[in-house]
Amino acid sequence: MCGIIAYLGKDNAVNRVTEGLKTLEYRGYDSAGLAYISKETIHTVKQVGPVDALVQKVNDLKLPKSNIALGHTRWATHGGITEQNSHPHVSDDGNIAVVHNGIIENYIQLKSDLESKGVTFKSATDTEVIPNLISQFKSENILKSVTEACKYLKGSYAFLAMSCDHPDTIVAAKNGSQPLVIGTVKDAVYISSDTPTLTSKCDKIYALEDAEFAVICPTSVKFHKFGKSIVKKPLAIMASVKPATKGIYNTFMEREIHEIPDVIEAIEREYCKRDLTKLVAKIHACDTIHIAACGTSYHAGLYIARMFERQGLRRVLVHVASELPHTNPIINPRDIAIVISQSGETADTLSAMKTFKNRGLYTIAICNVEGSSIWRYADTALPTVAGTEVAVASTKAYIAQTLVGEIVVNAIMEQPTNFVSYRKAAHEILGHSEEILKVVSENKDMNRIFFLGKGLSAITALESALKVKEITYRHCEGIAAGELKHGTLALVDSNTLSIILTPTDEAAAQKLNNSIHEVKSRGSHIWTVPPVESSLQIIYAQLFALHLAQKLSLDPDKPRNLAKSVTVE
Ligand code: F6R
Repeated sequence: MCGIIAYLGKDNAVNRVTEGLKTLEYRGYDSAGLAYISKETIHTVKQVGPVDALVQKVNDLKLPKSNIALGHTRWATHGGITEQNSHPHVSDDGNIAVVHNGIIENYIQLKSDLESKGVTFKSATDTEVIPNLISQFKSENILKSVTEACKYLKGSYAFLAMSCDHPDTIVAAKNGSQPLVIGTVKDAVYISSDTPTLTSKCDKIYALEDAEFAVICPTSVKFHKFGKSIVKKPLAIMASVKPATKGIYNTFMEREIHEIPDVIEAIEREYCKRDLTKLVAKIHACDTIHIAACGTSYHAGLYIARMFERQGLRRVLVHVASELPHTNPIINPRDIAIVISQSGETADTLSAMKTFKNRGLYTIAICNVEGSSIWRYADTALPTVAGTEVAVASTKAYIAQTLVGEIVVNAIMEQPTNFVSYRKAAHEILGHSEEILKVVSENKDMNRIFFLGKGLSAITALESALKVKEITYRHCEGIAAGELKHGTLALVDSNTLSIILTPTDEAAAQKLNNSIHEVKSRGSHIWTVPPVESSLQIIYAQLFALHLAQKLSLDPDKPRNLAKSVTVE
């Protein structure tokens, strides 16, 4: 989704910002832009399409050196994918430039008020009201202008503003679920919506929280809240995150799937030294465990819930995070909550977490990004240590989430986790890549694909179908096999591929045979995936989806319409 990066310091700010924009690409976007100040004037360069196209444009224009620049990758929400709608947006009087993540809910009213005062708008975005409002409150003190403007904004936002009257200052403002972090280094400051982009560059990183403002100069950062200055502690980030590369692979997704054995090893190292006693005691003392997450992380939640319930440990309710406000589940203060998120910034998950906290629940985050919002808000953060996941389709992070869940279950049961055999199994499945490619070649023209599972493999079926849908755009469903005859069987014909996810449980596997007969006798093609102890069976589906996308000449790393980090509700 939208990304913010800015630089203020001695170097060429435009270069620093274009480098930063490249690191934000994985989040998903459809246009990019930057603004800088030169000769007391704000200039912008914008481009629809990849950041490389923007960089080309910047190079062709041979821009003068500037010490201040704001950059943005836009994922269209309000207004089409055009240069006019790309950020940064500049006030009608040319004084203020803004990059913004989030949604200004009352922008239509604000726009019409500003228009009645003679302001002309150039874009269809909600963002453009922000620089124009700030400009209405123009004063010697840019923080004052920004805080006054914010009093009129409704919705969630994280934005940066700069003024040609203050070429050595950027003001940051935040409200709602949009992350914004400020990283300092000698004589320079970087600001980003993505913590990992700063960890390798900066000495100290500060996270802006709701209702806070920062006045950022090259050698100082001052924080304010409710009109008073405040002192903030830098984040305790354990390790700097190296920028991910494709290495020997053609795509990030391929690399990330092949990293799964290493992820299992990293989790083993991490959790060997962690003491889960306090967490286990919390779980022992609770009535119900609530899990909330979205997409793939939601499927990891279903998987973890099943593991808890299989051992008869606790009642677990798994919530689609975006549905939580609309389902009104019974929550009591003796319950605990687990939220699961790869990015740690998913707006719906963060909002579910706030609901749990407001209801007095102890919250545990299973999260891959240290220092992210979900990580920071949790009472306990359990890292998934999967390393940066760049491909939009989550692969290694899913395995990491389910494995961390299993480690917690095992800690309660006082039994070991079988890391060695899991790593061996992961290697073995990866070795089947060529066979899976053959299945793809034989079935690439099928109209629809069904994954059929039972027990734990029914959950794997849901996650498998999501993988195929998101990167191949083929109709695909994951079904608990017994449900087939209650409706979906009507779709099965000779243009269908049914992928059977054999469960490890003998009795379940026997029952699944009935479903195989049902689809076979309607002409469906069949591929049978062998049973695998643990969630690792998903690797078959991940490789299947990857190969199918490549066969169809689609880029698996950047599926259409999707973003890696979904920071709007
Ligand atoms: C699918 C996928 C998404 C995410 C979902 C939640 O492959 O990656 O469904 O799982 O957007 O994201 P996180 O885990 O970052 O909260």
